[in-house]
Parts: sequence; C-alpha cells; structure tokens
Amino acid sequence: MNIHIISVVPELLDSPFGHSIMKRAADKGLMHVTIHHLRDWAVNAHGMVDDYQFGGGAGMVMMCEPLANAIEELNAKHNFDEIIYLTPDGGVFNQHMANALSMKKSLLFICGHYKGIDERIREHFITREISIGDFVLSGGELAAAVVVDAIGRLIPGVLNDETSALFDSFQDNLLAPPVYTRPEDFRGWKVPEVLMSGDHKKIEEWRYEQAMKRTEDRRPDMLNNEE
Ligand code: ADE
Repeated sequence: MNIHIISVVPELLDSPFGHSIMKRAADKGLMHVTIHHLRDWAVNAHGMVDDYQFGGGAGMVMMCEPLANAIEELNAKHNFDEIIYLTPDGGVFNQHMANALSMKKSLLFICGHYKGIDERIREHFITREISIGDFVLSGGELAAAVVVDAIGRLIPGVLNDETSALFDSFQDNLLAPPVYTRPEDFRGWKVPEVLMSGDHKKIEEWRYEQAMKRTEDRRPDMLNNEE
C-alpha cells in the first residue's frame, strides 16, 4: 500500500513510521509512507499556505491553491483510492473503517492546521473525512499517524502471526480478553488456572467469556451496536 501525507509540519511525522511494526511494514515493502511538505506548493516565495478567513474571526485558514495544486499533482502520479482529510468534524474512526481502508492500494491524507482548510477543497477533492475522537488536536498529523498505524498493521503479512490481528479488541465487536506471561506466580498474584491447563477448548471458552464480560462492563454500547 502506498500512503502519502500532506502536512505543514512534516517533522511531526518523522518518528511514528520509523519503528516497530510500521518500520517492519516498510522494510517488507508492504507499506510505503511518503510525507509531503505543503510549503513546496506555497503561493509565494515566503512559503505562504494560509490566509485570514473571510467574514472575520481569529485563526488562519489553509488556502485552496497550494492544496489543490498538491493534490492534483500527487493524484496524477499515484491515482489515489481515497483522499482523506483529518478533522475533528469528520466521521469517528473505528476498526470497521480501518479494515476497509487496509484493503486500498493508495491513500492520500491531508493534515489540517490553524482553523482548518478552505471548504472548497473539502467539497471538490476530499473523499472521506476522519476524526480520531471528540477532542481537538493542534493539527491532523498525530491523527494521521494513528489512522495509518491502525491500517498498516492490518495489511496481510505486516504482523508476524497473521491471526493475531483477528483477535484484537473490536475486531469481533468485543474487547480483547486479559493476557498473562511468565512468571505463573508474581508476588502471590496467580495466572488463572485455566490458562495453564493445556485444554485449548476450555481456554477459548474462557477467553470468550472474559471478552464478553469486559465488553459488558466497560463498553456496553458495543454490544448494542449491530455494525
Ligand atoms: N485535527 C484536529 N483534531 C482532530 C481530531 N480529533 N481528529 C482528526 N483530526 C484532527
């Protein structure tokens, strides 16, 4: 999968894709992330990409021209399946969306800053708007990193044990059950006996019960949500 990200603070994205599973995805050639600096399409030699908003009010707005030129140039080369704007008023990101996006070949993410981007870019170029939750970040970069991470780990071959993503929280509309590792007894705090039994059927049943209980306790809304 090819992922392109347009940002006015590309330094914010230096690290998230250079480690751990995202690095492995890149090393295996399964996910390639390219960060573009919007200032490369600035309207003047001062690097101008934003301007005052019409109608007055505090805060700058990211201008049409740099964004339109950047999107058109990159889209002509990469033919994006989706052009995604990260914004707190987008649809709230979830595992269902991550699954759908992980099947695409080429995605472009636009990170907003200041007051956001000119509405005409949203109307004419953006195919999907995503929020990562009901709070406001200072820009879309960290949101883009979250979304790309969630998508990247679902690409077949990225995780070593391919089945492990299938048992993630949310993947079956349940939270994940508790997990334990050695030692079996830490300060007298013992691992549930069933996990030491070697009886795989019993272990599966226990995990399902625990996942169900955890979901009922913490996220009962998920059990009523028939998505
Ligand atoms: N940009 C600012 N806040 C955001 C959020 N909650 N989700 C996505 N992009 C954002």
